[in-house]
Amino acid sequence: MGERLESEGSPADGAVAALPVDLGELERETLACTKCVLATSRTNVVFGVGDPEALLMFVGEGPGRDEDLAGEPFVGRSGALLDALMAEEIGTDRSRCYIANVVKCRPPSNRDPAREEIEACSPYLKAQVEIIAPRVIVTLGNFATRLLLKTNEGVTRLRGRSYPFGRAQLVPTYHPAAALRGGAGVLAEMRADFVRAKRLLLSK
Ligand code: URA
Repeated sequence: MGERLESEGSPADGAVAALPVDLGELERETLACTKCVLATSRTNVVFGVGDPEALLMFVGEGPGRDEDLAGEPFVGRSGALLDALMAEEIGTDRSRCYIANVVKCRPPSNRDPAREEIEACSPYLKAQVEIIAPRVIVTLGNFATRLLLKTNEGVTRLRGRSYPFGRAQLVPTYHPAAALRGGAGVLAEMRADFVRAKRLLLSK
């Protein structure tokens, strides 16, 4: 059992007072979570995947149908684009990064995660970020960007630069699904954001 720390989040029921500081322990605790309604409809908790000592971490929104079935983030069409951008713009792959989501369980019918679901789940993400301690965090889309930067501003306004995030740098970019829908312009901006992340990785 890992040492425990006070989590920053304080969900309404006060149940998550402390979370493990060991990633395996944290995963075991997350897999048993029943703190919000998403627990009743999920197939799998999608905790996260990759190198626990990764320098680069991606944070998405939440599992879709494919991820719910597989128990792994970004395995559908968005994931294929994420893998391609990682390879083409950063020269890396998912085994050398860490990929997590804002919510760990699939919102039914791919609806947006609700505020109370994000609040219930965010201590797990915060603990993942603290344990992994990446140098660069790339937030994919509005939900991850707004949560971590504590803003209501949208990613379209926020992207194009990096933000200090503790000892890391945070690079906001679009969700891959937006690039799949939005075509060449969105994709080109995502590529530029990935290049920004790579430069930050190399600059330290
Ligand atoms: N979209 C996300 O935000 N996360 C996933 O894991 C899959 C699709």
